[in-house]
Amino acid sequence: MASASSSPLPPTHRALRQDIYASPPSVQTVPTPQPTPGAAVLKVLQASLINYTKDIYNGKRKYPYPVPLTLGETALARVVALGEDATTLKIGDLCLLDVTIRGRDDVDRAAGATFLSAIIEGHTPAAAKLMRDAWRDGTYAEYVRWPLENCFVLDEDKLFGKLGYHLGDLMHIPKMMVAYGGLGPLCIDLKPGETVVVTPATGGFGSAAAHLCLELGAGRVICMGRNQAILEELKSAATPEKRARIETVPLSGSCEEDLKALKSLGGNIDVFFDISPPAQGKEQLRTGVLALRHGGRMCLMGGGNSDIVLPNGIFMHKDITLKGKWMYEKEDVKRLINLVETGIVKLNKTGEQVNPYGASVVAAFKLEEWEKAFDEAERVGSAGKVVFEP
Ligand SMILES: NC(=O)c1ccc[n+]([C@@H]2O[C@H](COP(=O)([O-])OP(=O)(O)OC[C@H]3O[C@@H](n4cnc5c(N)ncnc54)[C@H](OP(=O)(O)O)[C@@H]3O)[C@@H](O)[C@H]2O)c1
Repeated sequence: MASASSSPLPPTHRALRQDIYASPPSVQTVPTPQPTPGAAVLKVLQASLINYTKDIYNGKRKYPYPVPLTLGETALARVVALGEDATTLKIGDLCLLDVTIRGRDDVDRAAGATFLSAIIEGHTPAAAKLMRDAWRDGTYAEYVRWPLENCFVLDEDKLFGKLGYHLGDLMHIPKMMVAYGGLGPLCIDLKPGETVVVTPATGGFGSAAAHLCLELGAGRVICMGRNQAILEELKSAATPEKRARIETVPLSGSCEEDLKALKSLGGNIDVFFDISPPAQGKEQLRTGVLALRHGGRMCLMGGGNSDIVLPNGIFMHKDITLKGKWMYEKEDVKRLINLVETGIVKLNKTGEQVNPYGASVVAAFKLEEWEKAFDEAERVGSAGKVVFEP
């Protein structure tokens, strides 16, 4: 099969693999992936860990995925070989590898053929099949084969040359990407000047959401969370201009108290954004309905399988919009990258704090150090700060 390649790929490469579900992984020498139609092969430069990477692969989170498996998450990688149907990607391109993989023949999403590479096989048989049979292996390896449409080219001249970022600074993009899926124009569409509540704003994706709201020009960002110290820390780290747009409210666990605290701030609330973990009761959604202005919008991105109870009458009479969102659309990825490349959405630069929530890489590990890397990611507690450099 015809394919383009910078130089012959090595016959084998190192990959962090798991042979038995939830058992300790090991670095194995395996055949290097080859380009096929619809795919690129890339050399992995940095692959991100999230705070609960350990709990995904030790089975604690009970995420279903097939084995044997090369583990992995979002990565920054360079194209080294291309399938014959590649039309715009070029050898040498620096790409962000999006882990949200979708069935190409599931155009209307009827089959729900969407899964997260090497993380979870999705929620339908079609998604599980797609992962098992076609795109099983992830990015914790020297080389990876990746769907062409999931390789998002990054403009190195703009990002490194003009804006002065380092590679590790770009790891904040995929973290903000999740929030952009919910806050962006294709979902709840947060507009400049609006007031938004982010709850909780103290976790990995919640803090990225708060950062994104500030960067997208929200007039007021009300950050809720149980941990008041973290909220204060985040606020005090902000630039004076951004600090003036952040307010903090403790999450008490009581709808009445939270509502009172939100109302005491005064003004209208336009958007209520939930990114709570499954463990948290969804009482805050009720708070959201009661706190929002007439015609307000809510976005539910938090996890969990329990039912939610909303005040029917108020929900209806206030014309509230509620949208759920899993991850983001491809268009969101392009838009957010563009916002970063044009300097509108700012990332932290290595050694320089430009926003309270940015996350440059703080620790890089070899694949062989996986145990240390998993622990450090858990300790640091925020996606994109700890990476593998295979
Ligand atoms: N829709 C999507 O596409 C999508 C994508 C990624 C993640 N998610 C969901 O988002 C959740 C959060 O992800 P993350 O990475 O930000 O997690 P994380 O870093 O572990 O943060 C969890 C946050 O929740 C707070 N929290 C934990 N238990 C709580 C409780 N019982 N009551 C109130 N607050 C509580 C934590 O603060 P304290 O413990 O300090 O109070 C922390 O702020 C995930 O669990 C997942 O379900 C959804």
